Amino acid sequence: MKYLKPFLFFVLVTLCLPMFPDEGMWIPLLLNHNEADMKSRGMKITAEDIYSVNHSSLKDAIVKFGSGCTGEFISEQGLVLTNYHCAHGAIQSHSSIDHDYLTHGFWAANYSEELPCPDAKVTLLVKMEDVTKLVLQDITKEMTESEVDKLRSSNIANLTKQAAEESGMKVEIRSFFSGNQYYMLYNQVFEDVRLVGAPPIGIGKFGGETDNWVWPRHTGDFTLFRVYADADNNPAKYSANNKPYQPKTALKISLAGIKEQDFTFVFGYPARTNEYLTSYAIAQTTQIEAPILINARTKRLNIIGAAMQKDDKTRIQYSAKYASIANAWKKRQGEIRGIKKLNGIEEKQKFEAQFQEWAATYAGGVYNELLPSLKKAYDNLHPYVEQATYMNEQLMAPEMIRFIHSFDPLLTNVKSKQKTSEESFNTTLTRLKNSVPDFFKNLNVEVDKTIFKELSIIDGDSKNNSNGNKPVRLVDFPDKEFDKYVDEMYAKSIFTDQQRLMEALDNLTFKNVEKSKIAKDMLYNYVERVYQRYESIRTPQLKQQKAIDELQCTYMQAQMEMQHNKNFYPDANSTLRVTYGNVSGYNPSDAVFYKYYTTLDGLIAKEDPNNADYTVEKKLKTLYAKQDYGPYANAQGELPIAFVASNHTTGGNSGSPVLNAKGELIGINFDRTWEGTMSDLMYDVTQCRNISLDIRYCLFVIDKFAGAQHLIQEMNLVK
Ligand code: ARG
Ligand code: GLU
Repeated sequence: MKYLKPFLFFVLVTLCLPMFPDEGMWIPLLLNHNEADMKSRGMKITAEDIYSVNHSSLKDAIVKFGSGCTGEFISEQGLVLTNYHCAHGAIQSHSSIDHDYLTHGFWAANYSEELPCPDAKVTLLVKMEDVTKLVLQDITKEMTESEVDKLRSSNIANLTKQAAEESGMKVEIRSFFSGNQYYMLYNQVFEDVRLVGAPPIGIGKFGGETDNWVWPRHTGDFTLFRVYADADNNPAKYSANNKPYQPKTALKISLAGIKEQDFTFVFGYPARTNEYLTSYAIAQTTQIEAPILINARTKRLNIIGAAMQKDDKTRIQYSAKYASIANAWKKRQGEIRGIKKLNGIEEKQKFEAQFQEWAATYAGGVYNELLPSLKKAYDNLHPYVEQATYMNEQLMAPEMIRFIHSFDPLLTNVKSKQKTSEESFNTTLTRLKNSVPDFFKNLNVEVDKTIFKELSIIDGDSKNNSNGNKPVRLVDFPDKEFDKYVDEMYAKSIFTDQQRLMEALDNLTFKNVEKSKIAKDMLYNYVERVYQRYESIRTPQLKQQKAIDELQCTYMQAQMEMQHNKNFYPDANSTLRVTYGNVSGYNPSDAVFYKYYTTLDGLIAKEDPNNADYTVEKKLKTLYAKQDYGPYANAQGELPIAFVASNHTTGGNSGSPVLNAKGELIGINFDRTWEGTMSDLMYDVTQCRNISLDIRYCLFVIDKFAGAQHLIQEMNLVK
């Protein structure tokens, strides 16, 4: 028996192990380490085809879209494909009740009809270099933490400045492995980006919040933009004279379709994962922070949702904002569920016990105190996390609060007697005046006021409230009178009415600001108090977080020393990564199996005239009735819509190209499955799947639904 056990264990482990280690977000520059594995899983191209230092490669087609998404060039005329939900704000900003592009979609018939989007910028990585040695240069063991910090920051600043001057590019240095490695990234940033085509929201967001983070999925989550450049093909500010940018690489688009187990890879900008944290950190984020956020957002979504249903203007105003509040609200619920199912905290504790055992004899015990120190540091952080989350999600939930705070520079400078010149005061004033119309365009003051009333109280009944379960609020007013107080503030404040505010700002001067209406505004003064309180939490919180970051840097290094045979990947940090896996369905619960793709038949079956999330576009129904799918149907004659695969992705991977073994575009990533939402903290190959839009559905919508064949002609379709 004694000898059988290890053998049995071996067999069991081999059987249970995923066929492939799908977890990982790899640095493209170092992809040669994964090349053999990728090839063994079906890849037909080389690591060099994906990222090359010397030649153009697939990398030249991948862009960061805005700050939180990915996009890719799909034509030689700078056509960029990304998700609908990444473009939601841009589409909405061009929409009004008369030009309701949200409801009806938008398709530019030619270059001149494309709509400039000043807020959408596109960043292209030109190259990356390991600069770890240079960043850590001259740092010695004898230095104190703050000395190290200072020197490192100044090294980073100097290196960045020098490289930017020499290259003429935008340069940044990013830390990897919690500060154990550093890379320099050379970027081109394109600011002239124009909206080319977007499906109606009924396609682009089909399934709405109900289906968000859920498989099976039928969302046509895509939008087309075009990047413009100057006469020399370089980034430039918007100008009517700019020309479509010509990328070094435009992706080929495959019509060949996909089968179960096909090799796929995703190339994009994952924003943030935390795979190497301690059990204390996981407990804090899933048991303290997330429940406060979820609870507060439930209330906020109820208020906004009700107002959107009542009024069309409000629906347009809050469309993108609602989606973004709901997105994290739902994700965090899935994450809590996933961590529980995996016994995530217990698993981390088991690992920590092993670590402690290893540390006892390793290198004279240098890491002996590491975990106890981390535990203590998280205990210290706990009350700040709790209070800051309450502040962020509740007290500061009314949009008025951050908006009013943005006017602070006008007054603080005066109050703190800092030497502000009249000139800089005027520049600030102009900037703030310009921000006013945009703010009011998307604000329903009544909705904001309701949020203010309902959320300014920190729940007395919350289990996680360390304030002895008493309701806490900033101003000491009994319940009934608090509402009156808020009504009065909103009624009297100059900030709650666009015209009143503009008049006040027009009359504002450097000389009269101290005695101005702003200085005396009730709401302004309330906001000042909110921020004072916020600062009193944030300052110690950030200090404590910094201490944790230092410890986590050491813990990361120690984990790599302990598991020296493991191929570690750095946590996502909004830099370009490659992740790979295979097309595959999964088994979400007892007796249930999810197939790997969805079709238009499934979309039609979901139709529900009483649920706005499941309204089906008329034209889509007509095309369905005629089975008019053109070349976009699969071998069974179905129109494929979405598919799942085991690529390890996260937020920021939205819009990322999903490529086949030959490096051709087969889809765009837009979500993860409900059962796999915990993958930012812990990956499980049996449950974690990325959800992608099948490129054939995207082409079908452009071609058959919108009749925009001129766009298809720009692309390079291959069989
Ligand atoms: N869950 C996806 C992501 O994390 C899509 C979000 C947008 N869609 C939505 N229904 N809110 O970004
Ligand atoms: N929808 C996400 C995004 O905007 C991608 C899904 C995920 O978080 O995996 O980036």
